[in-house]
Amino acid sequence: MSEDLTIIQGNKVDIYQSLIPQIKALIEGEPDLVANLANIAAALKEQFGWLWVGFYLVKNDELVLGPFQGPVACTRIRKGRGVCGASWVQAQTLIVPDVEKFPGHIACSSLSRSEIVVPIIRDKEVVAVLDADSELLALFDETDKKYLEEIVDIPDIKFRSF
Ligand code: SME
Repeated sequence: MSEDLTIIQGNKVDIYQSLIPQIKALIEGEPDLVANLANIAAALKEQFGWLWVGFYLVKNDELVLGPFQGPVACTRIRKGRGVCGASWVQAQTLIVPDVEKFPGHIACSSLSRSEIVVPIIRDKEVVAVLDADSELLALFDETDKKYLEEIVDIPDIKFRSF
């Protein structure tokens, strides 16, 4: 497919339903993990304009920064630390409407006000997390959770090839 992304306006459900087939087409048949995570981060950033969106990969009991779009970010996050580390330990998506009210939140950018972190699970293990941050309070909700979980579950995103 061409590398152009069709950006639409509208409600979140319509946007995700337009975006997800395009993300699937972008990564279909491409085995390289970094290439696929980079394009997913770029597609989400281009469509939604979030402050920061990207991946942290589980490596040797830490999360290590992976492909992302946005301002520079912390490179390593220890297990259980911050929203990302908590999502990893709990193996659950965490929606944080106000980052200042999340104990232990790691402020990579002082502009971030709300956040969602989605664990990426393969063979029952968390292998990475998808993190998105917004300058707006309470931007992320159950709709984002549902569709971001669908995105990270795309089987073509192969973590063994990393
Ligand atoms: N806020 C995250 C750290 C990662 S940055 O937001 C990119 C956390 O608390 O885990």
